[in-house]
Amino acid sequence: MTQRVRGVIAHGAGAPVSLETVLIPDPGPGEAVVDIAACGVCHTDLHYREGAINDEFPFLLGHEAAGVVESVGEGVNEVAPGDYVILAWRAPCGTCRSCRRGKPHLCFESANASQKMTLEDGTELSPALGIGAFADKTLVAASQCVKVDPAAPPEAAGLIGCGVMAGFGAALNTARVQRGETVAVFGCGGVGDAAIYGAAISGARKVIAVDIDEQKLEWARGFGATDTVNSTEVDAVETIRELTGGLGVDVAIEAIGLPQTLEQAFFSRDLAGRLVMVGVPAPTMKWEMPMIEFFGRGGSMQPSWYGDCLPTRDFPMLIDHHLNGVIDLSKFVSEKIGIEEVEEAFHKMERGEVLRSVVML
Ligand code: APR
Ligand code: ZN
Ligand code: ZN
Repeated sequence: MTQRVRGVIAHGAGAPVSLETVLIPDPGPGEAVVDIAACGVCHTDLHYREGAINDEFPFLLGHEAAGVVESVGEGVNEVAPGDYVILAWRAPCGTCRSCRRGKPHLCFESANASQKMTLEDGTELSPALGIGAFADKTLVAASQCVKVDPAAPPEAAGLIGCGVMAGFGAALNTARVQRGETVAVFGCGGVGDAAIYGAAISGARKVIAVDIDEQKLEWARGFGATDTVNSTEVDAVETIRELTGGLGVDVAIEAIGLPQTLEQAFFSRDLAGRLVMVGVPAPTMKWEMPMIEFFGRGGSMQPSWYGDCLPTRDFPMLIDHHLNGVIDLSKFVSEKIGIEEVEEAFHKMERGEVLRSVVML
């Protein structure tokens, strides 16, 4: 039977979001309906609202979520009603050319629900990143549901579904930070702080945080930054070189998505250093670089899509690390809010006041 729930809808570019009734069909083959417990407010939700992702309005926003599977459709065996899950926006299909060559973490045909959720008048909704979890319940592909230990509180667990996973994965999966390496992270939002945390638990001997905001730099220390650089006060590249005995870092991680910080990250490396880009650029951005600098410095430049994560491997790992006290995911949660406070949370995010606001449902 179709269910009616509350959901946060973006109707047009730049227009404030509204809380409306969303109709959710029963799960069809391969689908699941998930009762959402918590959903973090991510920049990508704001980008959808601004029309910066695509123009398939109206959007049902929200995609960093944890909840409990309520019902599943035909042929679903990966999860069952009652399972505590984190929703992933990468659900490897198993059949695309990347999956077939053993790289499901790069799946090119990630699964989503086939049926549509709608507004009362029948208008079909586009769920953000194929999830749409600023809602009491949502409909997803069952393979988007990743079972984790229910002992982890949903406000912390949900964040693993996007930004926190991207940051940890940039350090652990893409850069593969090794014990004793030096690392610089550009941008200390939720993504950058998770990269800092990931580098620290990997045994990096120096983790240099770069930001333009003192408060963010202070928080970065709490995630394991050994040094902080305010790039409005000093030259970031020069300072990183000074902090590393004149050499530069082994690994530079860009977690903002700007040409100028990508350039700083590029030049802050030692010879043969690795550059990882996890910040998402706007479609119009360009990056110019003398080719000899790229060739002559050696090393590598690697984009990190969603932290190169394999959700079924990496979500339970981070949850277990949290429960074992290796990491404390609750440090990413700046505030818990109600579903009617998403618009205000966007403004707090724009003003840089929070790492993550999390909607509790
Ligand atoms: N130099 C240094 N730091 C900067 C600069 C700059 N020029 N501009 C912004 N910052 C800092 C901000 O002060 C903030 O602390 O970068 C940080 C960005 O953090 P958030 O806005 O909270 O973004 P976050 O959620 O961490 O995501 C970062 O990763 O997944 C992508 O789409 C996401 O591109 C975004 C990036
Ligand atoms: Zn695939
Ligand atoms: Zn996100």
